[in-house]
Amino acid sequence: MQPQVHKGRLVFIGTGLQLAGQIGALSLSYLKQADWVFSLVPDGFTEQWIVDLNPNHASLQPFYAQGNEIKSRRDTYTQMVDAILEKVRQGLKVVVALYGHPGVFACVSHNAIAQAKLEGIDAKMLPGISAEACLWADLSIDPGRSGHQSYEATQFLLYNHVPNPKTHLLLWQIALAGEPTLTAFSTTKSRLQVLVEHLSQWYPLSHEVIIYEAANLPVQSPRIDRIQLQDLPDARLEMISTLLIPPAKTLSLNLAMCERLGFTEAELG
Ligand SMILES: C[S@@+](CC[C@H](N)C(=O)[O-])C[C@H]1O[C@@H](n2cnc3c(N)ncnc32)[C@H](O)[C@@H]1O
Repeated sequence: MQPQVHKGRLVFIGTGLQLAGQIGALSLSYLKQADWVFSLVPDGFTEQWIVDLNPNHASLQPFYAQGNEIKSRRDTYTQMVDAILEKVRQGLKVVVALYGHPGVFACVSHNAIAQAKLEGIDAKMLPGISAEACLWADLSIDPGRSGHQSYEATQFLLYNHVPNPKTHLLLWQIALAGEPTLTAFSTTKSRLQVLVEHLSQWYPLSHEVIIYEAANLPVQSPRIDRIQLQDLPDARLEMISTLLIPPAKTLSLNLAMCERLGFTEAELG
């Protein structure tokens, strides 16, 4: 008789932004029942909460550059994927708990799931509450009113993205804007000035933009700093900062389309 091969299973879950309160019931159940848990969460309290739920745990944090070490985050992410898959290949039910939504502006989950599937391993992702979900709630904005665009800040600079100033524009990883080496954990004033000048093609320099940081702990308040676009290079930016650029122009009706669909402007209210 062939020895039974135990194939592991891989599930990525999101813990949301705030300690213990923003995880879904299904994700919590997977977390408690896992043979092994990896986590990458914003603070020690959240990590301890995970360890209390399931002590078979390792943090993915040590894969980042430590101390003065210079290390590309590309290598970090590859090593994280390798470590995760090594456990799954041992036949374990592995859960990886990432803060926010595990698949939003996060490559480790997508890469690990793709590799697991290539190896015939059952792998999936459950959704979580992302920084963006918290932002709309904390700022009382319905992004559906005007639509919105969302980019990683350096990608926004390096590729030919064209913002629509009639919608909300979100720039993630604003603290790293224009830093393409993946080795640094901050950008420079001069690179932020380049971003400001680039954005000034679509927005006035005096346009109000918002530096947003969701609270990670229930005792904290979100950071909602309203500044003028031109002051961005001098602003305090953290790795958790997201920049929201509200619309600078109002929506305009496509009258030709209204006519084609048989509506008048008045009928649309
Ligand atoms: C690698 S992405 C991870 C996003 C995460 N997967 C999510 O769903 O929110 C990191 C970026 O997310 C945003 N972010 C992370 N924590 C945040 C917070 N507490 N408040 C606002 N934005 C945050 C920032 O733009 C940060 O640079």
